Formats: sequence, C-alpha cells, structure tokens
Amino acid sequence: MKVITVFSTKGGVGKTTTAVNLAWEASRNSRVLLWDLDPRGAATFVLNVKPQGHGRRELARQRQDWCSGIGQGTAYDHLDALPADESYRDLDLVLDAAKKSTHRLARILESVAKDYDVVVLDCPPGSSLVAENALRAADTVVVPLIPSPLSLRSLDQVVSIVTESAKSTPILAFLTMVDRRKTGHPAAAESLHGARPEVLEISVPATVVVERTGAVRAPVAAFAPNTAAASAYGDLWTAVAAAVHLT
Ligand SMILES: Nc1ncnc2c1ncn2[C@@H]1O[C@H](COP(=O)(O)OP(=O)(O)OP(=O)(O)O)[C@@H](O)[C@H]1O
Ligand SMILES: [Mg+2]
Repeated sequence: MKVITVFSTKGGVGKTTTAVNLAWEASRNSRVLLWDLDPRGAATFVLNVKPQGHGRRELARQRQDWCSGIGQGTAYDHLDALPADESYRDLDLVLDAAKKSTHRLARILESVAKDYDVVVLDCPPGSSLVAENALRAADTVVVPLIPSPLSLRSLDQVVSIVTESAKSTPILAFLTMVDRRKTGHPAAAESLHGARPEVLEISVPATVVVERTGAVRAPVAAFAPNTAAASAYGDLWTAVAAAVHLT
C-alpha cells in the first residue's frame, strides 16, 4: 500500500481538488481510499459520502483495527472514502494527547494495508500535528502550486517540514490554476518550473470545468474526460505512480 499526501502550507491552492482527482485516476487500476482529514469536509462533499461522526474518538484510542472495512463506498468502482466530520476540528489536541503523536495516522493505516493499494490523504492547510502525521505516513507528498511568487516560499516550507520529519519522502510539486491570460501567470509558471527539482512539468489550467467539481460533485475525468484538466491530472497520477513504484 502506498500513501500519497496532498499538502501545502497555503490554503485554497487546489489540494482537495488534486486529492479527489488523483484518487479517481488511481482507482482505474488500484483499490483506493481517500481519507479526508479536513474538518470542513470538502473532499467528503465532492465524493458525496456521509460524515460518520466518530473519526476523532477512534483516532484517540489505541486501537489500530478501526479503519478495517470502514472506508465507505463512493459512486466509483475501487474508490472508497473515509469522510471527515466536525469532530476533526480538535484532532490536533487529540493527537497531541496520544502516545507517539506524530505516528498515529501511519499506524492506523497499517490496518488497511490489505484492503487498499493506494491511500490519498487530503490535508487542511498549514502545518499542524495532523499534517505532521500525514507527512510521516506518506510515501510521496504532492504539492499544488499556483503561479505566484509566494508559491516558491510555500514549497520551501513543505520541503523543510518534510525534512524535519526525518524521512526522505519524495516531494512532487506541480502548477495548477494556471491562467495564461492573467498578467504574471506565464512568467511565474515558467520560473517555477525551472526553480526546484521537485517541480514537475505539469500544469493544470484554471478552467470552469475544474471549478465545477464542487457543483457536479465528481472528479473532473468522470464528467469531462476529454479536457486539458482531466489529461493533466492523468499525467500527474502517472508521475506520482512512478515515484512510489506503482505500475
Ligand atoms: N484548476 C482549477 N481551475 C479553476 N478552479 C479551480 C482549479 N483548481 C481548484 N479550483 C477551485 O479553487 C477552489 C479551491 O480549491 P481546493 O478546495 O481544491 O483548494 P484547497 O487547497 O483544498 O483549499 P483549502 O486550503 O481551503 O483546503 C475551489 O473552489 C476549486 O473548485
Ligand atoms: Mg482542501
């Protein structure tokens, strides 16, 4: 089982959109669980699964078997979701009180290793104990970057948080919400592509199609397969799968 953590210190950069679309791409050939770690539950909403209201309590316990069979089916074959709920709001406090507080998620995920080939973690923005857990559990960290001078700073922050977690986890960054008509976007995109070895040559365009993900409540490729955005997420999944040696 491979764990893919979608993370950024910045909010609103397309993490949830990426998590949902990567999970869908992965589910073409693998059994996938998307775990929504954000109490606002955006991924839970998009995948149309019902919050269960017990996530935080279970995380607080020492049990490692609670995930087994707990992924809820979605409208898509081979794609399950573990929904977020309001109780995740104080997940940091719960984790802080637990033994080995930065390893809790990784240990829980061991219990689903037989059920899933791929787990995608959708993190809330910012650095937190939840994020630290998600990064610790990760086989690779996927970082969406929007074309702005501040994006390099957020990538540097991710690199340093991952490095501090004492694991040499590969980081894959890519550009998203790229709007060729916006002043500064093409130049920022070009400079970001060459700026760090972590930045892939993949750009998800800013399009109405992706924006509609929340309204249609579906991954892009499920309702608009022949679009540049769907194809970019397909390319991103190919790069991620190669990085974690999934063929
Ligand atoms: N390529 C794109 N083109 C147009 N809109 C996009 C694109 N990617 C994401 N969006 C829109 O941008 C908004 C933020 O995206 P998303 O929720 O995925 O970001 P996030 O990083 O998860 O945010 P948060 O930090 O609040 O969790 C959403 O309304 C989403 O539909
Ligand atoms: Mg989000």
